[in-house]
Amino acid sequence: MSSPLQSLAVSAPAKINLLLRVIGKRPDGFHELETVFQEIDLADCLTLTEQPEKIELTCDSGPLPTDNRNLAIRAALALQQITGTRKGCSIDLRKRIPLSAGLGGGSSDAAAVLLGLNRLWNLNLKPMALLKVASELGSDVPFFLHGGTAYATGRGEQLRRLTATPPYFGVLIYPNLAISTKEVFAAGKFSLTNSENYFTFKFVSSSMKNPAQWTDRFGNDLERVVFERYPQLQELIVELRRAGAFYAHMSGSGSSVFGLFDSELAACSAKICFDPYDRWVFRPVYRQHRSLS
Ligand code: C5P
Repeated sequence: MSSPLQSLAVSAPAKINLLLRVIGKRPDGFHELETVFQEIDLADCLTLTEQPEKIELTCDSGPLPTDNRNLAIRAALALQQITGTRKGCSIDLRKRIPLSAGLGGGSSDAAAVLLGLNRLWNLNLKPMALLKVASELGSDVPFFLHGGTAYATGRGEQLRRLTATPPYFGVLIYPNLAISTKEVFAAGKFSLTNSENYFTFKFVSSSMKNPAQWTDRFGNDLERVVFERYPQLQELIVELRRAGAFYAHMSGSGSSVFGLFDSELAACSAKICFDPYDRWVFRPVYRQHRSLS
């Protein structure tokens, strides 16, 4: 018999939104979206260690709260609540994904805690049960249970797997700005949902196979709102295109922006042009299936 797990290291990857469309405002105050999430190889790292009852978090990033405002703590508390377990855990979070950057870092940490504690605490929760907790924690959390490339609608929680796009190399820039998703949606003053606004899965799925079409077809509807306040982000995107990116946009509600390149050499050369900013060369992560147990 194998000995029970007492400590577990889990990775929590970032995402970019290859496209993001706001279909309209919903009666519940959220916005109906059509988006493509892409997991990338920039990740936080969490170590979960079992302990009796208490949930605690330590983190190497100063500004991040370590109490139950933190989604990782909320994820662990939610699992305790729905299963009634008396097990607790300490979470050590090594933060690599910038905060409030449109990269889903907090949501990914929460999903990693759900997946990790399901194993560490031997909860045996089924994928559907994890999905329900995830969507209550936040709109982006369900995506991180699966990762890879996904088409999402609803608040972002209704997911369909997309086949992998052709490979590319990305440059991600964090302009040292924290942007609140809530404020961006509120400032957008979007009209009510009109279901005729969807591109549809079929259209997106076929366009994904041909990156040369992305610039003409896709974009990010939240850029209009964010660029009005922070025109420097639009300038960064222009610079990324000038540096050779075949596609460049803001991720999510910002503040990070990304440019996509055909080769690693082109991405590495472009990265040099953005010297004063935090920046990374990244690759998309493709998955057939990420185990939910
Ligand atoms: O779901 P999450 O907590 O990540 O969303 C943060 C905020 O962003 C929400 O409180 C809401 O104001 C806004 N939001 C939205 N429509 C979405 C997702 C987020 O209006 N689909």
